[in-house]
Amino acid sequence: MSAGAVPGYLLPRTASLDARGTLSIGAIPVRQFAERFETPLFIYDEAHVRSLMREIRAAFAGNVVYASKAFGAVAMARIAEEEGLWWDAASEGELAAALRGGLPASRVVLHGNNKSPRELAAALDAGVGRIVVDSFDEIGRLLTLSDGARTPKVWVRITPGIEAHTHEYIRTGQQDSKFGFNLANGDAGRAIKLLKETGKVELAGLHCHIGSQIFETGFFKEAIEIMADLLFEEGVGELCMGGGLGVAYVNGESAPGVGEWGSFIAEAAASRGIGGGNLFVEPGRSLVAAAAVTLYTIGAVKEIPGIRTYVAVDGGMSDNPRPVLYGSGYEAFLPERAFDPHDTAMTVVGKHCESGDILVRDALLPADVRSGELLVTPVTGAYGYSMGSNYNRLPRPGVVFVKDGSVREVVRRESLEDLFRLEMG
Ligand SMILES: Cc1ncc(COP(=O)(O)O)c(C=O)c1O
Repeated sequence: MSAGAVPGYLLPRTASLDARGTLSIGAIPVRQFAERFETPLFIYDEAHVRSLMREIRAAFAGNVVYASKAFGAVAMARIAEEEGLWWDAASEGELAAALRGGLPASRVVLHGNNKSPRELAAALDAGVGRIVVDSFDEIGRLLTLSDGARTPKVWVRITPGIEAHTHEYIRTGQQDSKFGFNLANGDAGRAIKLLKETGKVELAGLHCHIGSQIFETGFFKEAIEIMADLLFEEGVGELCMGGGLGVAYVNGESAPGVGEWGSFIAEAAASRGIGGGNLFVEPGRSLVAAAAVTLYTIGAVKEIPGIRTYVAVDGGMSDNPRPVLYGSGYEAFLPERAFDPHDTAMTVVGKHCESGDILVRDALLPADVRSGELLVTPVTGAYGYSMGSNYNRLPRPGVVFVKDGSVREVVRRESLEDLFRLEMG
């Protein structure tokens, strides 16, 4: 199945088209979503998310920690809990989302390159499963807070010196990084020694995350080799290899599946004697990106003859900042006439006061696209809602989950009142 110029593999698994080219997700036609919940709207295919979680759990001989920064709604925590995943929280807010979703704190991993004393205290009070120590300052803070009555399990985040091929803003394993302890200059060894000596924490393992949106599995293998050496040198048990598997966003792109990636990591680690309960991964993007689409309404079509046609929708960089941040590519199509020829290049823009507020630079759409039509951008389930903003005081869109032909609103659309809830006068 393809919708417009968009191939089916970029769509949620329960997406379907009727004979007239109308898109349904989970057997619900898009117009119904728009009428009931307004647009813009994030539509997640819950069955898709759950099946990916099951795929990686089946393929990966170890523990799977969902990186909630990709999309951290409480409803996701509930799903992670039900599917037996752990939860990567990089702030007190992400930790709170896990607990509200019913995840036991023991299955939460606390991350962050600058955890505040308050965040560390909240994690200690909750009894999180692992704290990933990221700096010498943090070690100081943690030891001050640790009262000896409880011994938190920690991992040490290592920057192994790997420059994975991805955008520099999401590359994190290289020497020049704000994250973790540098292996080459001896910081990693010093941090490990310090933590072993304190007696106030239990050094359970090592962690590395080499970046995000990485397609070549070779980089993960390289990292495993380096981390395995360190693990055995230091005599620690657990290894977490982070997340980072790339996903296809545009026509023609392809990426390894999560199951394939999971078994690759598990096998590479097993060949170095690391496995079972000692091995962890932290995928985010690859579990949710393709599970969702964003549904917009087109408000204005502006043709500048010989130059470009702009198609303006009712959202933009506030619900998907990735194109502005990284120049990321997306596809778009008209979900109520997906079989009409999508053959005319146009630029899909948002409604914000920035010329850079571009969602899809060269979308292929029908030449006669009109104001009032619905437009869909696929693969928007990761780092869209979670990185969104209220720029220009736009209310954040709602989020719905679809499963077995029924839809539930998991995050309601913000109201005008919500926009002023913090203002004191
Ligand atoms: C420590 C850590 N783990 C996991 C992830 C998830 O990465 P991805 O969404 O690329 O799988 C990130 C992303 O920034 C991260 O910083």
